[in-house]
Amino acid sequence: MRRNKKELPIKIISHRGASGHRPEHTLASYELGARHGGDFIEMDLVATKDGKLICRHEQEIGHTTDVAERPEFADRRTRRTIDGHEVEGFFAQDFTLAEIKTLRAVERLQDVRGMNAMMDGSYEIPTLDEVIELAFALTGELGRPIGIYPETKHPAYHVSQGLELEPTLIATLREAGLTGPEPRVPVFLQSFEAESLRKLAETELPLVYLMGTEEHWLHYTTPDGLAEVASFAHAIGPDKSLVIPTTEDGGLGEPTDLVANAHEAGLLVHPYTFRSENHFLPEQLRSDGEPGDYGGFAAEYEAFFEAGVDGVFTDFSRHAFLVREHFLTPEG
Ligand code: G3P
Ligand code: CA
Repeated sequence: MRRNKKELPIKIISHRGASGHRPEHTLASYELGARHGGDFIEMDLVATKDGKLICRHEQEIGHTTDVAERPEFADRRTRRTIDGHEVEGFFAQDFTLAEIKTLRAVERLQDVRGMNAMMDGSYEIPTLDEVIELAFALTGELGRPIGIYPETKHPAYHVSQGLELEPTLIATLREAGLTGPEPRVPVFLQSFEAESLRKLAETELPLVYLMGTEEHWLHYTTPDGLAEVASFAHAIGPDKSLVIPTTEDGGLGEPTDLVANAHEAGLLVHPYTFRSENHFLPEQLRSDGEPGDYGGFAAEYEAFFEAGVDGVFTDFSRHAFLVREHFLTPEG
């Protein structure tokens, strides 16, 4: 059954921007996500050597910037252990913001997103301040609120490095008028680490506890676990397979009880991550084309909207927007 738009304001969260159409975590990607119908700009935050917050999915920046091709930074290549994983490469914490600003973004998924790869070298690495300014400008221009949805990445690791993320994030939001019960534009704050959300509670903003599929999260998907989550967060951001698993023959299975149980606990549900290419879709939704060609993404969105989710993290805000328009329009 289709639902009334006012009853079901499913939020479209532009995941790393319109990252299906532009290299992720660039101002161009964020802007396009909003223009494509996204309600929120989603960005991952890591800290530089001088404690500035920049938008990257991980501390290691070698796969999403041109740093490895820059001879002046060759001596910064190193190994670090982050949350138990040894990683080799170039790390944001070893660069000042001024140095980061000399780098340019490159596409992470070179094989699947060839059009994005053609834009390698075109865009700077944005700061949190720049994204906030962009959200304000787009809100004015588009005549609808464009919110922000920052994620603290590896917050405990950052503490171990003397680069705690939360105080800077809170101060930046406060300075921009983005704290309290009526922020200038809507804001959700997200993290995979509960301790980080607890530190962010003083902002009075809605907090989103992200959940992966590893054993650590299983407890939190139960009614008891969700009640615990509700003591420090307002929403969950589960891996989408926790809402609708993929079947052994590559189809979409039946929804789990997670949405109903989360709603019962008073939590919103924003699953991640929706991507339109065959490479990412369940086998039965793929088209006959290449891994980077689009498959039957509409069926996936519809299944999740039917399951009652309150928002979706998507690399393709335009696709989510079009399916939402169709889904929310009562038939007949
Ligand atoms: O923040 C939602 C989703 O982005 C979490 O996964 O790894 O893409 O940041 P990740
Ligand atoms: Ca994220």
